[in-house]
Amino acid sequence: MEMNKDIECVLVSEEELDAITTRLAAEIDRDYCNTGRPLVLVGILKGAVMFYTDLIRKIKRPVEMEFMKVSSYGASTVSSGCINLHLDIKRNDLPSLDILIVEDIIDSGRTLSMLSALLRDRGAFSVRTCTLLDKPARREVKFDPDYVGKQIPDRFVVGYGLDYNEYYRDLPFVGVLKREIYSH
Ligand code: IMP
Ligand code: MG
Repeated sequence: MEMNKDIECVLVSEEELDAITTRLAAEIDRDYCNTGRPLVLVGILKGAVMFYTDLIRKIKRPVEMEFMKVSSYGASTVSSGCINLHLDIKRNDLPSLDILIVEDIIDSGRTLSMLSALLRDRGAFSVRTCTLLDKPARREVKFDPDYVGKQIPDRFVVGYGLDYNEYYRDLPFVGVLKREIYSH
């Protein structure tokens, strides 16, 4: 594979991503069997798109697709601490739904903590969270996601949906971005 010149090293290879989504789909199938309720996977745009579409194809039970869009970063690698909701789900049947929020990465914990509280406040039957990547060293609010693909060290990563200034989302692996790209 030709390595993108801006990538320092591959952190999660295509093979490992495949193994992670297979494992998480099996865990989700196990935990949500015979619930008698619809399971709605809420993907967080845009970063979670690759993970979401791979995961959803491996889950065997029926699921419904919804998306939300939030922003906290702007053109920076450091969270601004303030989260804007740009796209919301429009459902009036939340009390009868199991919601599983699907995110690319948890960093400070603000995004997942805010979104789960929001959907819980609106009366969803249950709200859980599934993240491909977890950077536990950077947590600023206490939050433990229910499903985690892989814990990673405190490095800025791109690829497989994750971006820096909207670039690198199309890389098929997750890699560490060279510091010289974002530290001027
Ligand atoms: P949190 O609210 O601080 O947990 O941030 C979560 C969001 O920050 C993710 O959805 C990503 O958009 C972004 N983010 C955090 N770390 C990285 C990274 O290493 N690469 C790309 N985006 C990141
Ligand atoms: Mg994101």
